[in-house]
Amino acid sequence: MHSSKIVGVGHHVPETVITNEYLSTIIDTNDAWITERTGIKERRWMDPEKDTVANMAAKASRMALQRAGLTEKDVEFIVFATITSDYYFPGSGVLLQRELGLESIGALDVKNACSGFIYALSIADQFIKTGMYKTILVVGAEIQSTALDISTRGRNTAVIFGDGAGAVVLQPSTTKSAILSTHLHSDGRFAEELFVKDPGSSRPHKERQPEQFLDTSGFKVHMNGNQVFKHAVVRFMEVINEALAANHMQKEDIDLLVPHQANLRISQYIQEKLALRDDQVYNNIMRYGNTTAASIPIALSEAWAEGRIKENDVICLAAFGSGFTWASALIRW
Ligand code: COA
Repeated sequence: MHSSKIVGVGHHVPETVITNEYLSTIIDTNDAWITERTGIKERRWMDPEKDTVANMAAKASRMALQRAGLTEKDVEFIVFATITSDYYFPGSGVLLQRELGLESIGALDVKNACSGFIYALSIADQFIKTGMYKTILVVGAEIQSTALDISTRGRNTAVIFGDGAGAVVLQPSTTKSAILSTHLHSDGRFAEELFVKDPGSSRPHKERQPEQFLDTSGFKVHMNGNQVFKHAVVRFMEVINEALAANHMQKEDIDLLVPHQANLRISQYIQEKLALRDDQVYNNIMRYGNTTAASIPIALSEAWAEGRIKENDVICLAAFGSGFTWASALIRW
């Protein structure tokens, strides 16, 4: 049984930069509030003329494949993490398969929000370990901006979320490089603390008819920020410690922590608890906001391009988000 390893990383973000200053002109907010509470300075929002979840994913995937010295034709399976698929159904996995010109390979969609990328990575890891596939594309891509209530009423989410895509290529490893472990968790008791209700099937039939949607607020992101924050800081720590314990490692063994970019204050809290130096934690939320399932692969791709990830490094990925779900992956690069 071969372990799997990441052989290529890539990302793509929309061109349109939305600054805190710009948001302050359309809703009652300001740069100081957003920076202090979240660390975010700007984020990217899609251009409806250019960007879709699937085509951003295709650009990220091509970059990951090229960096791995591979082509589209090498991909045998796709695992696609998104909660903002281009259509309500089918998921964006098949649209990516079409964009890449890959006939009839399997494409699986994962809907675990901010933890989605680590869930997807874990699934792909199992497929490589069993020998079922030798080259898997694992993608996280989101267009959150169109689901936000961009008004003063929705300002606690409008300032946080952004759009983008990231991808990695997984292959069997013949060296020490490997995904050492993944740990996945959920607690559905808190599902409604961060959710988009519509178009949910649990609506009575007459309420699901489009003409009945006089109140369209159910289509927007609803978040109880305080609850999310409190649970996030606890679960992030738990799942990182779980990964370290499973691999008989200490926090000192982590060369780079790449946390899901939910909020800079959450990342700083984890950094302090683990006593990590600034250069041991990668943050880019300042530039992209929270891109949900895309945040970790975008961060991985940028960290790699900046030379922050080297062969043999121990990389820890950790995420928490809607569900609630939380997850970690420990990787020897
Ligand atoms: N601009 C200015 N003021 C804002 C604002 C904004 N964008 N959003 C909310 N406020 C106001 C609130 O209305 C409230 O005003 P009030 O005291 O007059 O009622 C005040 O700021 C404090 O709001 P509160 O929601 O208690 O702030 P907070 O300190 O909890 O920060 C979050 C809000 C959303 C930044 C914070 O809860 C958070 O980051 N939570 C985690 C979110 C997260 O990580 N989500 C993704 C998980 S994957």
